[in-house]
Amino acid sequence: MNQSFEIINKRSEIQQLSEAVAEFARLNALSERATYTANLILEELVVNIIAYAYDDRKEHAIKVSLGLQDRKLTVILEDDGRAFNPTVPPVRPEHNISLDDIEDLELGLRLVRMLVDGISYIRREGRNILTLVMEDVPGKKTIASMLREERVFPPPKEFSAASQIRSLDEYRRLYRQSIADPEAFWGKQAEELDWFRKWDRVLVEDFAEAEHAWFVGGALNVTCNCLDRHLKTWRKNKAAIIWEGDQPWEQQVLTYQQLHRQVCRFANVLKKHGIGKGDRVTIYLPMIVELPVAMLACARIGAIHSVVFGGFSADSLKDRILDCDSRLLICADGYRRGGRLVKSKEQADQALAACPGINDVIVVRRADIEVPMQPERDCWWDEEMAAPDIADSCEPEVMDAEDPLFILYTSGSTGKPKGVLHSSAGYLLYVMQTFKWVFDIRDEDTWWCTADIGWITGHSYIVYGPLASGATTLMFEGVPNFPQPDRFWRMIEKHRVNIFYAAPTALRALMREGNRWFEGHDLSSLRLLGSVGEPINPEVWIWYHEKVGGGRCPIVDTWWQTETGGILIGPIPGATPCKPGSATLPLFGIEPEVLRNNPDSGDDDEGGWLVIKKPWPGLMRRVYGDPERFKKTYFARFPGVYTTGDGAMVDNDGYYWIMGRIDDVINVSGHRLGTAELESALVSHDSVAEAAAVGVPHETKGQGIYAFVTLKAGEEKSDRLVAALKDHVRKLIGPIATPDRIQLAADLPKTRSGKIVRRILTRIAAGDVTHFGDMSTLTDASVLADLIKRRLA
Ligand code: WTA
Repeated sequence: MNQSFEIINKRSEIQQLSEAVAEFARLNALSERATYTANLILEELVVNIIAYAYDDRKEHAIKVSLGLQDRKLTVILEDDGRAFNPTVPPVRPEHNISLDDIEDLELGLRLVRMLVDGISYIRREGRNILTLVMEDVPGKKTIASMLREERVFPPPKEFSAASQIRSLDEYRRLYRQSIADPEAFWGKQAEELDWFRKWDRVLVEDFAEAEHAWFVGGALNVTCNCLDRHLKTWRKNKAAIIWEGDQPWEQQVLTYQQLHRQVCRFANVLKKHGIGKGDRVTIYLPMIVELPVAMLACARIGAIHSVVFGGFSADSLKDRILDCDSRLLICADGYRRGGRLVKSKEQADQALAACPGINDVIVVRRADIEVPMQPERDCWWDEEMAAPDIADSCEPEVMDAEDPLFILYTSGSTGKPKGVLHSSAGYLLYVMQTFKWVFDIRDEDTWWCTADIGWITGHSYIVYGPLASGATTLMFEGVPNFPQPDRFWRMIEKHRVNIFYAAPTALRALMREGNRWFEGHDLSSLRLLGSVGEPINPEVWIWYHEKVGGGRCPIVDTWWQTETGGILIGPIPGATPCKPGSATLPLFGIEPEVLRNNPDSGDDDEGGWLVIKKPWPGLMRRVYGDPERFKKTYFARFPGVYTTGDGAMVDNDGYYWIMGRIDDVINVSGHRLGTAELESALVSHDSVAEAAAVGVPHETKGQGIYAFVTLKAGEEKSDRLVAALKDHVRKLIGPIATPDRIQLAADLPKTRSGKIVRRILTRIAAGDVTHFGDMSTLTDASVLADLIKRRLA
């Protein structure tokens, strides 16, 4: 049943909307919730359109259509205003739109986004056309932002035919074997590595105590597996790393042989600086080849590397150096990202002022800028590498299977980032095998993972997984929109990339840039696409599938964490039918389960905490320097299983739908930030008494940061102070941690025992409620209604 009508762009006409909706609801026996939602979103959006789409003060007709089919309610809004998508707030104010208006607009949009299941906007023939879809389910929870997609994409036949694992049956058979006898399964997998000495036992575990050790008694060196073994084959002269710089004309190719030589030479440089097995080396480099060279050189001699993302500030770098008591730092003079100069040596020098343990700094010349060098401490990478006493070969250190390979810091729910420690054999085996299973890699492929090596994705799937597999890995220093938003498409075309692995945040940003950037680019080399870091919205999935993959490439949505080493849940592309928005099924050897705090409560598909019941080789071993913390953080809520911190739901086909963090972690552009970390940064500012940070939905970043701050007595509220606070957080943690919005509040909502009630703040940040008076007496609906009334007044 369909119905349409027109209203004029005057606020006084809005009353007609609710009357029309009421009429429609009555005729179609619409549920109360759907009626309420339809009313609310119509009011919100029409107000936005009236306020922003017209600047000629003339009368315009806005056409509203309502339709109901299969209990799906569709609302279409059409108008002839200037191009304006009322669901995407303008980034910068355009003529008559003030910053206040934008905030107001955003508030309404958050509300709309929470209530509908799908939104699409197009501009056609001078008209804005907005379509909203929502399910008419009476008891539906408004907060569950889970967009359930019904579409299923089976693997294309040609793809399966050429794959290593070709059917769901084959996957299930292997999966059952891997779970029934993990030791036999992993023992067989481990035969694919080169060992100095084979293991005595595949697994020794006591998961209740958070303990697990793999390939006990075995000995190997990670770099022999990533480099030396390929040199005995035709891969010796295969490109190991193809690098492209910030500027499109900057390129470099390292064959396995060349990479091996560089790694050995740099390993010798490290030794010359007194670095040996077990020493920690901090690496603070941009995406240049010296970064993987430095990592592998550490692995060659058994030093433990700790890579700190180049975008982190001096303060974050300092904390990470001090926490693991690093001996040596490798950094660059500076570098350009998207054409903008980043002065990394300056940051490093600031950090080092408080790091007495670092006696040696090796500086890579990248930006060619003047930097102060402390003669006793600092030296140049190129000079060290060229020294006559540096040999081309370096004996690999014999490493115990369980010896640490690296530390990587990640945010958790406490203020201090934790140093996640990964092992040598288990980690390497896990990333090598998951790389093959999920990405179906072939020797002739060009593989491109767009992550930064400063995060786990880069460690596992730019460096260790691909190199252990003898693959060609493309490494990119720049950003997707420099010099223009077609950079990714240009690079895919130029390097004939076959497999492309990116984060939804980048995809969303590129999707917003529009389809004209694809014009003239041949993406036909692509065979497979991947996604990582956060849930991918079905809308973006479909765009990725159609525009980037030309409708022919499977998409592997891979779920995992810094702690897990590699992918745990994700499709096998030749075997697993994909559902947009679901990471699909667990990989071999992985036994997930969804648990609820109270097992007797809730519906079956309500979701709960995602846990993993058995150890696997890639799982972190411990938190560096804090023996208790691994168990306390991950094994406390549900004893005997690894708790991921994510919420998830399983559907009838056994597919996992990841709902995002349910602990106090915000996922900004696929990067994790602890709320406690943000709060302690804010509170360290002189004017701040108390702070609370929550995540809010964000158009491109996935989640944005919304902070509430109460000032110390006598401090004046001002925009300048808000700006200063943002800057303060940015300086302390890094640009990604910059709060999107800081709200100065007289008071924060607290329980009687004084604990800040974050749930309420989350709802305020999401635009659900506008104030936190006496929360206990307010129901959501009345608050929402109140909000609308006030906005229309
Ligand atoms: C989130 C990145 C949904 C999740 C590899 C996890 C995802 C956190 C996905 C880990 C995905 C990662 N779908 N959510 N495919 N992949 N996440 O440690 O919340 O930087 O806990 O590791 O990212 O982030 P981390």
